[in-house]
Amino acid sequence: MKPFGLVSLFILAALPAYAHIGRALQVPSASDLASDFPVSSRRHHLRARASPKNAADMAKIQDPSQECQEYGYSASQALSKKYPGYHIASLVDGDDQAQQVWSEVQQSGIIPSDIQPRGATKGHYGISDQSSDSYNNDKDPDCWWTATGCTSPKHPNIGDDLTSCPEPNTWGLTFDDGPNCSHNAFYDYLSKNNLKATMFFIGVNVLDLPFQAQRALADGHDICLHTWSHRYMTTLSNEQVFSELYYTMRIIKDVVGVTPRCWRPPYGDVDDRVRAIAAGLGLRTIIWSHDTDDWNIVPDGTEATSKIDSNYQKIIDKQTQNKLDGKGVNVLTHELTENTMGEFQKEFPKIKEAFTNVVPLTACFNVTQPYAENQYKYPIFADFIKGNVNPQGLPSLDQMPQINVSSKIDVTPEKQQTSAGGFSSASKSVDETTESDDADTSSSKSGNGSASQSSSDSSTEGSSKDGGSNSSAAAVSLCMSGLLVPILLSFAML
Ligand SMILES: *[C@@H]1O[C@H](CO)[C@@H](O)[C@H](O)[C@H]1NC(C)=O
Ligand SMILES: *[C@@H]1O[C@H](CO)[C@@H](O)[C@H](O)[C@H]1NC(C)=O
Ligand SMILES: *[C@@H]1O[C@H](CO)[C@@H](O)[C@H](O)[C@H]1NC(C)=O
Ligand SMILES: *[C@@H]1O[C@H](CO)[C@@H](O)[C@H](O)[C@H]1NC(C)=O
Ligand SMILES: *[C@@H]1O[C@H](CO)[C@@H](O)[C@H](O)[C@H]1NC(C)=O
Ligand SMILES: [Zn+2]
Repeated sequence: MKPFGLVSLFILAALPAYAHIGRALQVPSASDLASDFPVSSRRHHLRARASPKNAADMAKIQDPSQECQEYGYSASQALSKKYPGYHIASLVDGDDQAQQVWSEVQQSGIIPSDIQPRGATKGHYGISDQSSDSYNNDKDPDCWWTATGCTSPKHPNIGDDLTSCPEPNTWGLTFDDGPNCSHNAFYDYLSKNNLKATMFFIGVNVLDLPFQAQRALADGHDICLHTWSHRYMTTLSNEQVFSELYYTMRIIKDVVGVTPRCWRPPYGDVDDRVRAIAAGLGLRTIIWSHDTDDWNIVPDGTEATSKIDSNYQKIIDKQTQNKLDGKGVNVLTHELTENTMGEFQKEFPKIKEAFTNVVPLTACFNVTQPYAENQYKYPIFADFIKGNVNPQGLPSLDQMPQINVSSKIDVTPEKQQTSAGGFSSASKSVDETTESDDADTSSSKSGNGSASQSSSDSSTEGSSKDGGSNSSAAAVSLCMSGLLVPILLSFAML
C-alpha cells in the first residue's frame, strides 16, 4: 500500500510560495500536481518500526515519529484492494455492493438533472475561473456555497446544511482532515480536559491509519466524513461524488464499525447536486460558522502563528463582546498536523474562559444517534454540560472489533431517517419536552430541517473575514481581469 499519500501531497503543495484568493478558491499551479499522491516522500526510514498490533498499542506510543511509522497491518492490505487508490474515487471494478447502492441512489430520482459538474483546475483542487465567472450569484440556482454561502438547498428532498451551534455561549468543537498519524498527545489532551469533538475523517487517511481512526470512537468523539481524496466536490461527476462519499462511509464502517450520517465538504464546496447525492446516501451536510484558517499555519502553511492566534482571538472576542446574536459557534479547526493540533491546545484556556460550554456537534444539535447503528448513545446538550460527556455503548480501545473488509452499510436516504436523535433533518427531536417553548427554540431543533441557521449567518461571517463566500466570487473576477497570481494549492485548506 502507499501510506501517507495525502501527507506528501500536503508537503509538496506547501513548499513554493503561493497566494490564496478567497478561502474556497485555492488553485494549484500547473506543474505541482503532475502526480497527485506521490509515494516518493514516504518517511519511514531512520527508526525501527513501532509495530503496534492494535489501537490500544498505538494509543500508547508517545514519540510522534514512531506514531507515524507505517505499520504493516495485514487487514490494511486486504482493505486497500477493495478501495479506490490514492486519487479521486470512482467505482471499483467488480464492486457489486457499490454498484447496487449507486443504482439505487440514481433511481431514487434525488439527483437534480439541471446542475452540471463545474469546471475544475488541474487535479480538481479548484474551480476554474470560467466556471466561477459564469455562475449567476444573484439567482444562485444551485445553492452553491462557494459562490454565495448558500446553505438552504433549492432542490427537493435535501435537509438544510447545519452551520452554527444553536446553543448560546457554546463553542462547537470540530476537527477536519484526520485521522493524523501523530495525534496521541492531542487526543490525550482532549481526554484530560473532558473534551469531545466532531471529527471529519478523510477516507485515505482511515485506510492508512486504521488504529488512529479507531481511537476517535473509543475516546468518545463522533465521526463524520470528509470525502475520500479531498477535492472540490462540485467539479466531480455524479459517479465520482458518489464514490468519494460512499467509499469513505464504508471504510469507516470497515475499520471503526460505525456508519456516519454526516459529512463536511472540503473547502465548503457544495451545491445541490452534491448535497443530493450525499442525502441519497443518508448524509447530512455540515458547514461551519467560524473559521480559524489554522490549516495554513507555518511551517507547513504560510501564515505566521500569530495570525492564527488572532483568528482564534477574533472568535473569542465576538463572544466576550456579545456579538454572536445569542448563538454559539461551529468552528473550523484541523487535526491536520502537530501545529494545528498544538494551536488548539494553546488556545483552549482562552476559549474555555470566554465560552461557557465547549461541546461536539452531537451535543449542539441533541444528536444522540449519529450513526446508522443504534447501539451507541451520545449525550444531548443538557446532559453533556452537566458533565455526562461520555457516550454509552462504545467499545473501549482494547475491545475494538477486527477490521472487516467490505462491510454492508445502511444507506437510508437522509429524509427517510425519521427516528429520534439522528443528524437527519427528518429526525425527530429527542427533546420533546421543550416542544412548547418559543418559536425560536423549536425552529432551531434538528427536528424539521431547520437545525441550521439561515445562510446569512455563515456568509456574513465568511465575508467579514478572510475573503469568504462573496469576496471569493469577487476574487475570481479579479483573477479573470488579468491579475493572475501564481497560485498553489495547499491540499488541506479546510
Ligand atoms: C453576498 O451574496 C449574496 C448573494 O449574491 C447577496 O445577497 C449578499 O447581499 C452578499 N453579501 C455581501 C455582504 O455582499
Ligand atoms: C466485523 O464483522 C464481525 C462479524 O460480523 C463483527 O463481529 C465485527 O464487529 C465487525 N467489525 C467491525 C469493525 O465492524
Ligand atoms: C500528521 O501530522 C504530522 C506531524 O505534523 C505530519 O507529519 C503528517 O503529515 C500529518 N498527516 C497525517 C495524515 O498523518
Ligand atoms: C436540545 O435540547 C435542549 C433541552 O434539553 C433544548 O433547549 C434545545 O433547544 C435543543 N436543541 C436543539 C438544536 O434541538
Ligand atoms: C418544519 O416546520 C415548519 C413550521 O412549523 C413547517 O411549515 C414545515 O412544513 C416543516 N418541515 C418539515 C420538513 O417537516
Ligand atoms: Zn479538509
